[in-house]
Amino acid sequence: MKILGIETSCDETAAAVVEDGKKLLSNVVASSMDLHAKYGGVVPEIAARSHIEAINPVIEQALTEAKCTWGDIDGIAVTYGAGLGGCLLVGVLAARTASIIHKKPLYACNHVEGHVYANFLTATTLPGYTMPSKQPDFPLLALIVSGGHTQLVLFKNHFDYILLGRTGDDAIGEAFDKVAKIIGLPYPGGPSVAKAALNGDPVKYHFPKAKLDKPYDFSFSGLKTAVLRTAQKEIGEDHTFISKNVPDRLSGTQKADFAASFQRLAVETVVDKTEKAFEEFSPKSVVIAGGVAASGELRRQLSERLPLPIQYPDMKLCTDNGAMIATLGCFKMKLNQPTADPYSLDIQPNLSM
Ligand code: KG4
Ligand code: ZN
Repeated sequence: MKILGIETSCDETAAAVVEDGKKLLSNVVASSMDLHAKYGGVVPEIAARSHIEAINPVIEQALTEAKCTWGDIDGIAVTYGAGLGGCLLVGVLAARTASIIHKKPLYACNHVEGHVYANFLTATTLPGYTMPSKQPDFPLLALIVSGGHTQLVLFKNHFDYILLGRTGDDAIGEAFDKVAKIIGLPYPGGPSVAKAALNGDPVKYHFPKAKLDKPYDFSFSGLKTAVLRTAQKEIGEDHTFISKNVPDRLSGTQKADFAASFQRLAVETVVDKTEKAFEEFSPKSVVIAGGVAASGELRRQLSERLPLPIQYPDMKLCTDNGAMIATLGCFKMKLNQPTADPYSLDIQPNLSM
């Protein structure tokens, strides 16, 4: 069974072909990230326009790299939420059109659920990928950490899960991006904070951890503000000092210390809750997914705190991609999940798990 996956929820136009829910045959990603860098974040209109230009060539390339024609494809999986409305529309319309023209079943996929399914890929014909040796077992605890999401989900089985907790404000990746901006590091913030943190002191600055009523919920907006206030104080100014002028006044050492101290605390926050959920629910596997799963600090802290090896996808499969959507689509087809109507499938920008 070969499924074509299409993903356009944010700034990556992506398509991939996956066989039997485990073998990656192609993975094509065109990112408009460079176009957003000067704004310090994704500009929805620019992202949507880039998707329109890229979508057809990306799909064609995904088929070519997989050595497939449309005749070899058994179904089409597409992200219909959550994400930016204008961006989701491009992928969904492309998938609906292809489904009608080529007479293929269409599967509507949840972006966040897709991130988890990147962990089910265990083989590939492509060079340069490190794949896990086996698929995760159920019950499966998934920590989903990206630019748009921070969630802990317990999967009892495929398509049978409970959402343990989620962020009530910023996502962890968003906090990395915003803190990077505050201290003057380039977008996207995750990799640039991680790089600066290598030379910084992780215990130089102490930021508070959010205290929430629900044990598995998250909040990152206070942490971002705490970084700003501490930085303003560090340069001898008060809270009225304009944030965009802060970076000019920070030394390289101070930036590195802020990066390291913020990263330690942000990661510790999600690791605390993952450890707590592990103790409460005794899952057989723990996976991490989403762009922030690329974080070396997250991988390090989790491996120190959990008694079993953590599974995470190859770095190229952590950030947004079509392979994770194709993999989820394979399981939908295999387990007879409902198909979507190609004449009416609509986007759901606020879709939750
Ligand atoms: O999953 P993704 O590509 O897009 C969303 O669905 O949001 O995640 C992108 C996020 C960005 O916020 C980026 O800063 C973050 O992942 N990220 C990282 C790292 N690499 C990417 N965060 C922390 N450490 C990293 N090494
Ligand atoms: Zn994502």
